[in-house]
Amino acid sequence: MVSTKFLWGAASAAYQVEGAWQADGKGLSNWDLYTNVYRATETVTGKHETGNVAINAYDRAQYLQDIALMRELGITGYRFSLSWARILPDGVGRINEAGIAHYQQFVVDLLEAGIEPIVTLYHWDLPRALDDRGGWLNRESVGWFRNYASVVREALGAKVSKFITFNEPFIDLFLIEPMIENIKSGVGSPFAITDAQYGHQAVALHHWLVASAETIGDFRAAGYRGEIGMALPLMPTIPENPGKSEDIRAAALADAVINRWCLDALFKGRYPIEVMTLFRQLNPDFAPFEEDFAILAANKPDFLGVNFYAPAFVRQEDSAPLGYDWMNTNPDPEPAAFNGPVRPDYLRRLLERIRDEYDNPAIYITENGAGFGPTDEVLDGDTVHDPRRANYIRRHIEAALKAKENGVDLRGYMVWSLFDNFEWLHGYGRRFGLVHVDFDTQKRTPKRSFDTYRDIVANGGVAATG
Ligand code: BGC
Repeated sequence: MVSTKFLWGAASAAYQVEGAWQADGKGLSNWDLYTNVYRATETVTGKHETGNVAINAYDRAQYLQDIALMRELGITGYRFSLSWARILPDGVGRINEAGIAHYQQFVVDLLEAGIEPIVTLYHWDLPRALDDRGGWLNRESVGWFRNYASVVREALGAKVSKFITFNEPFIDLFLIEPMIENIKSGVGSPFAITDAQYGHQAVALHHWLVASAETIGDFRAAGYRGEIGMALPLMPTIPENPGKSEDIRAAALADAVINRWCLDALFKGRYPIEVMTLFRQLNPDFAPFEEDFAILAANKPDFLGVNFYAPAFVRQEDSAPLGYDWMNTNPDPEPAAFNGPVRPDYLRRLLERIRDEYDNPAIYITENGAGFGPTDEVLDGDTVHDPRRANYIRRHIEAALKAKENGVDLRGYMVWSLFDNFEWLHGYGRRFGLVHVDFDTQKRTPKRSFDTYRDIVANGGVAATG
């Protein structure tokens, strides 16, 4: 069942593309509330936007056209996430057969087009009913997730050979969710995240990690024959001023929190000592049980999903959570993309570091891509000129393949994203797609970066394309 061919793919997430927020018995999710009730994007961008329609990808007539574009691109894998609330409208209990049928049909349609489905179980949209019960802060969330995962395994496991339990713990739990919390409370800037928020979110992160490991164990116990892993947002941390000891210390701490915490959990079955000490101080309730570490150690993932956008230049900043700023810094002359400085060299270093420090696990790049704003998105008749995105993708693939040549067990690359879509708190204002979407008419227009990636896929790499 597990193929050995290098996988070229593209990635997306349910809330960002599906729309159909009330179709076919779907329950409400946290994001349905964040956008419709709390009008969360308005606080950040000034515009009230929701994923109610998104890019209409729930609609079969639409997604069949989208699959046709995937074929044109030549990709062999498509990573997408499931909306938990479509499958279990209340998060637990009653199963919504229409939701299951939708995903079963989608999987069959992909397979018929020769495209492997890669399924993310959780990409940030939690059923509202579970959010009301404390969400990921509630230890019961581990059981809720295992139950949901087993419903999915029974419905899709025979046809899906790669599952990803969770997407990007750090970004969701330590950036987006605290911002949402600030938006809901209406006090101050959404970006004013505090140490106390980090403290309580540590408990949520622990629950994600345990839920992921337990689910991996459940899949194996049930005889699942494919691969199952987790996707981490990894960012090499660089002291903004390499001569300054405060920045060096800040970058080391940021590395422990952003990168090593989850990597150590997944591959060593433990948390870095500085994370344990610091977060215990911030929140006495952060007290992982010894048994939890045994669960982590016993259920290592089959592969690591690496989501890489940029390294983080870090400086000491007393007003920021944990005393460092990792977001508002870019000393590079080359202008940054939305998600940070353009530094493909750090992707190669990151992959080689994982090879060396984590015993060379199987790796898929589960997300990599960029947006640069309107100057790189010029719609011109039937095409969009986006030279900076095309260049970003080409250079990052080149770097990744260099790491592969150097012995990294890299098995595939998935670009973020095939289509422009709903970019969370930034709404529709930040485009990452290889295909332009007119959000009013749903018209798709491939950009020049689509051609770049198509050529790379056709040639099996960058070198041959010159
Ligand atoms: C997330 C995606 C997001 C992308 C671009 C990642 O952090 O997994 O959902 O759209 O980055 O910002």
